Amino acid sequence: MTDSPTQDHPPDDSGLWARVDDYFAVLAPEDDALVATRRRADEAGLPDIAVAPNQGKLLQLLATLTGARRVLEIGTLGGYSTLWLTRALPADGRVVTLELEQHHAQVARESLDAAGVGERVDVLVGPAADSLSALAEQDVEPFDLVFVDADKQQLALYLERTLPLVRPGAVVVVDNVVRLGAVVEPDHPDDRVQGVRRMVDLLTDHPRFDATVVQTVGVKGYDGFALLRVLP
Ligand SMILES: C[S@@+](CC[C@H](N)C(=O)[O-])C[C@H]1O[C@@H](n2cnc3c(N)ncnc32)[C@H](O)[C@@H]1O
Repeated sequence: MTDSPTQDHPPDDSGLWARVDDYFAVLAPEDDALVATRRRADEAGLPDIAVAPNQGKLLQLLATLTGARRVLEIGTLGGYSTLWLTRALPADGRVVTLELEQHHAQVARESLDAAGVGERVDVLVGPAADSLSALAEQDVEPFDLVFVDADKQQLALYLERTLPLVRPGAVVVVDNVVRLGAVVEPDHPDDRVQGVRRMVDLLTDHPRFDATVVQTVGVKGYDGFALLRVLP
């Protein structure tokens, strides 16, 4: 930790990161429905691993900036990020969100219905890899934006199975890919770290994905996300 952080000596101080997020929170305010969605998830015993409000707002802005009409989310939890994303869509927009746990999906469904957006969201329950294959078999309309926020072990598989489901130019966001910096260790024992490293191998010189990774700090600590564009 440094007393007076500068660009040359950035702070390593999670208390300060949280305070800075609090300061900027005025730009990403939560309304009653977002607060209720977080609360319902908490009361239902879901883990506290949803995106932070500023990250939800970033997703919402990305969806707006890309003119997304169809959004695919992998990892629903209690529907918090789903709600941010759904609100970016035009009237005929749709979010399809994939969740392994029936209990999580049920909590999300209740919150999304209570927020008044339930009719525009499909929550598909089951292993995301299977749901992605099923969507491809159904030949669904292509997605414009994908948010990948489930188990990290299968990131490469999710990206491969996402490709047939998106339009050229689609944007993909993959959350939590820095793992407190553990990703730099080739032999790290955590299989989530290895999942990220397999994703990076896949993305390196991939003919259909153009990608970058940005490290982040904030109320959720130190991590980062990958931003991908799907090439024609
Ligand atoms: C980090 S949480 C998602 C948080 C949510 N996107 C948000 O920000 O509000 C990850 C979710 O992915 C789900 N998950 C884990 N493995 C999965 C799998 N194989 N298929 C589908 N969902 C999975 C977990 O049950 C959990 O609800």
